[in-house]
This record gives sequence, structure tokens and C-alpha cells, in this order.
Amino acid sequence: KRIAVLISGTGSNMVALAKACEAADFPAEIVAVFSDKPDAVGLEKAKALGIATAAFARKDYSSKAEHEAAILAALDAVKPDLVCLAGYMRLLSGDFIRPYQGRILNIHPSLLPLFPGLHTHQRALDAGMKIAGCTVHFVTEGMDEGPVIAQAVVPILPNDTAEDLAARTLTVEHRTYPLTLKLVAEGQVAMGSDGRIVQTGSA
Ligand code: GRF
Repeated sequence: KRIAVLISGTGSNMVALAKACEAADFPAEIVAVFSDKPDAVGLEKAKALGIATAAFARKDYSSKAEHEAAILAALDAVKPDLVCLAGYMRLLSGDFIRPYQGRILNIHPSLLPLFPGLHTHQRALDAGMKIAGCTVHFVTEGMDEGPVIAQAVVPILPNDTAEDLAARTLTVEHRTYPLTLKLVAEGQVAMGSDGRIVQTGSA
């Protein structure tokens, strides 16, 4: 399966996906990494891995729709089977999602539906949670609301700062995203027309 990855920052999840794809028996290859930030460090990492990259600075476009249209055109050119959002910090409109319905994945650093949106680790600490984690889900129009495919849990320790928790969560993100991409790329898990998870367990 052909994968396009969208990033906005460090791209550590993109690197984890790229490393997983290097395994001969992994059923996916990353064909492009796109960013809405021309200075995203992850773009340099993708280039170092030999992956085609492109940047689409929002300020270069007159509207959100124009910005998305440019990214969509670049995606159509590389013909990905799946699109992985990995630290992509912009909400996608329905016009963007529809052509890729059920084929866009996202990783979010909380146990959805808890803590959608930003600053998830500080919010978990403030709420007195004893566990935290990450969620990989299919992307739908709402923010962080698509059907959940996989989650991983980490403990919250007594003196954790948000930074401690973020670092601990990233380690499970980097394991969970590749595992989940494999399930979807193999067709073991899909998003049904009713927006719910379909598990074929074909493998
Ligand atoms: C990660 O916590 C990820 O869950 C969130 O953005 C953070 C940075 O991701 N979406 P990355 O290092 O850019 O992959």
C-alpha cells in the first residue's frame, strides 16, 4: 500500500512509520511526506530517508480551501492508498476528507474520547488521571472524533510533568502507529460506511 504522511513538526511519528515500512514484510511504503510548515524538522528527516517531500505554507494560499486544494492535488499526483496524519496540526475540512473517506488515519496523544484537542498531557495531569496514552483513529470531519482503531496506555507517575508524560507517551505512539498502519494496510481493519470499525480478521 502507498502511504502519504502529513506533518507539521518534528515528525517523530513519521520516522517511526518510515522505519516500520523498511521491513520487507511490511505491507506499506511511504511515497511522500507533506507539511503545512516549510520549516518542519520532519521534512529534513524525510529527505534524509529518501522520501519525496513538499511543503504548503498556509500564507501562500488565499483561503483554507485553496490551501487544502493544493495539498489534495499533490496527494492525487502520488496516488496514496492511505494518508497518515502524524503531528499534523490543522483540521481537515469535509471537502478534503471525502475523497479519502475511511483512508485517513491520525494519532492523537490521549485516550480518546478523553482530552481531544491540544495540551492533552497537562489536562490529564490536571484531571488527576493515573493513566494516559495515545489513540490511532480514522479521520472524520469532527476534531479527534473518528472511529478508534487502536490505543496504548502509559502510567502517570506521581511527579510527572507534562513533558515527562509526553515523552513516555511518544514511545508508545512510535510502536502503536506502525502496528495500526499494518492492520489497515493489510485490510484487517477498515471503516465501515456507517463510520464504525469493521474487523475482517482476514490475515
Ligand atoms: C505527538 O504527540 C503526536 O501524538 C501529536 O503530535 C506530537 C508530535 O508528533 N499528533 P511528531 O513528533 O511530530 O510525530
